[in-house]
Amino acid sequence: MIPAAGFGARFHDGGPKALVPLAGRPMLLHALERLAASGRVGGAVIAVPEGYEDAFHVALKRAPFSYALVEGGMTRRESVARAFAAANFETDDELVLVHDAARPLVDSIEVAAVVDAAEKTGAAIAGFSVVETIKRVSGGTVGETVPRRDLFAATTPQVFRVGLFRKALAKAEGAEATDDAELVERAGGAVTVVLTSRWNIKITYPEDLAWAEAFLGRSPA
Ligand code: CTP
Ligand code: MG
Repeated sequence: MIPAAGFGARFHDGGPKALVPLAGRPMLLHALERLAASGRVGGAVIAVPEGYEDAFHVALKRAPFSYALVEGGMTRRESVARAFAAANFETDDELVLVHDAARPLVDSIEVAAVVDAAEKTGAAIAGFSVVETIKRVSGGTVGETVPRRDLFAATTPQVFRVGLFRKALAKAEGAEATDDAELVERAGGAVTVVLTSRWNIKITYPEDLAWAEAFLGRSPA
């Protein structure tokens, strides 16, 4: 499942962020190619903004596997819920992978590692250890320094057993969450973490695209 229905308000004042070109191709296409290269993803349900289906089909002419488009929701969580409802799972034991369209640099070997971990435990997410010192700030003044030893920045892919994710979505009853694992955590599920490269950035601000272009300049696409 690929949430790709955001407009990237922090990135630009324009169309869907997933269609923004990176090294000449839409960032969404980079993400799909890297998922396909993992050898562990065979198709996708992509949540896109209403009215942009044709633009996405054009951008995905060279998609590496079959895909379906669904209309996204007002929030990322809603977009994921709609993609999940549209996906045809054969059994509850299958794995479902969620990956942000806005993470076009994901490493294929690391994708496979997250899938492998989820195969064992039922739920696994990618991320990296926090390197900066994190401070809780209010009104421009530091309240406290948060010990960073246990802090982990959660990214995607996030992979879950279908039955577990269905229960977590039902239990969430529409409550907001900034990632998918949070729903599983709230439902009492244990989530395994897989440490990855810090290059798996989310293209959020314009400067992130410059980082991604620089990365691709020194790495085969
Ligand atoms: N997303 C989505 N549906 C939404 C909002 C976001 O499918 N209603 C997707 C985005 O397309 C993106 C991913 O969720 O692939 C992560 O979101 P983010 O990077 O925050 O993208 P935007 O929400 O588009 O950006 P912003 O928050 O700056 O507006
Ligand atoms: Mg957003």
